Amino acid sequence: MEYNIADRMGQVEGSVIRQLLTLAGDPKMISFGSGNPASEAFPVAEIAAITARVLAEDPIAMLQYGLSEGYAPLRDTLKTRLKAEGIGFENNELYIVSGGQQACDLMAKLFVNEGETVIVEEPSFMGALNTFRSYGAKLVGVPMEADGMDLSALEQALKSHPDCRFIYMIPNFQNPTGFTTSLEKRRAIYALAQRYDVLILEDDPYGTLRFAGEAVPSLKSLDTDGRVVYTGSFSKVMAPAFRLGYMVFDAALSDRFAAAKQCVDVHSNLLFQHICYAYMTQYDFEGHIDRLKALYARKAALMVEAMTTHFHPAVRFNSPEGGLFIMAFLPDGKDAYPFVAEGITRGVLTVPGVAFAADPQKPSSGFRLNFSTPSDEQILQGCKILGELTHAWLG
Ligand SMILES: Cc1ncc(COP(=O)(O)O)c(C=O)c1O
Repeated sequence: MEYNIADRMGQVEGSVIRQLLTLAGDPKMISFGSGNPASEAFPVAEIAAITARVLAEDPIAMLQYGLSEGYAPLRDTLKTRLKAEGIGFENNELYIVSGGQQACDLMAKLFVNEGETVIVEEPSFMGALNTFRSYGAKLVGVPMEADGMDLSALEQALKSHPDCRFIYMIPNFQNPTGFTTSLEKRRAIYALAQRYDVLILEDDPYGTLRFAGEAVPSLKSLDTDGRVVYTGSFSKVMAPAFRLGYMVFDAALSDRFAAAKQCVDVHSNLLFQHICYAYMTQYDFEGHIDRLKALYARKAALMVEAMTTHFHPAVRFNSPEGGLFIMAFLPDGKDAYPFVAEGITRGVLTVPGVAFAADPQKPSSGFRLNFSTPSDEQILQGCKILGELTHAWLG
């Protein structure tokens, strides 16, 4: 049969990554390509114990339909935690959602008409970009700098796209660059959003995983007029398979977001919400986060050190203060795609910047490396191989 795919899906393709992953089928491949938590990062025994207990104590509550806004005790626990980070709940509401990915989907569903603009950091998280594309959004990229978006390019984008509905940003340890937006820039971006009267979607799945430097206040904590929708996730601190995250937004939007969620999945997985609640309130959640931070700090330092030792000095990269990623940039705007492809033939998988581009036609000199999933030996060996390749390419 011939399938007539809807126009709105026309711009959505995972082709860059898919092509590379077919090249990457070799089990001996050293993969710096994933965005997964480390396999030693899961509180497996605790999850098993809580699951057995809650299913024994109250099985029907775990298996019955639940509320779209989420399990109230978990919502309250998250509110308390976020209040300590400066996000008030006098005028805000918090819903449980099925991952940060769903927050992006609900945001686009609620606010973007076909053909309207969403301004995004360039490069940015491809899962979100594809979600916005699936609603027919026009994506306008604003170059990312080490301390956040280029402000004059952002202002220009806002000026020339009066149909912009929101700015999408990942302020902490951005995927893919690992960059963190400074407080100064957060304030400036918020002021621009006010001046041009657009919303901000603040996507923060990595903020809890800060292992160096000082925490920077969220945009949501600076929000005085209900302009920021904030989203966080359990994927990197509990288990991505739970598909659980949360959204904070102006309470005036509560019914709208509930209606939008009912159109998608009615509510998020109840058993997993109970597990997260029990783990946060009855176990050592803070200790677990501290262990993750220590693990990722060590792996990031190992990767930075190996890159510094082996990479050609003209390749630029930052030392991240949290999260899971480092992005390296070839000099003189050289396209990183063929570099990545050759790295794969030498046994090391990274992800080329073009996979994260608002405009995939534009070449990107960046390639993303993940430090959470490879072993220490793989980090050392993979950086050595890539380093040799940088010297072969750059002389
Ligand atoms: C920036 C960003 N936002 C959202 C997500 C999606 O996370 P979740 O598993 O919570 O849907 C990811 C996942 O890697 C991400 O990097």
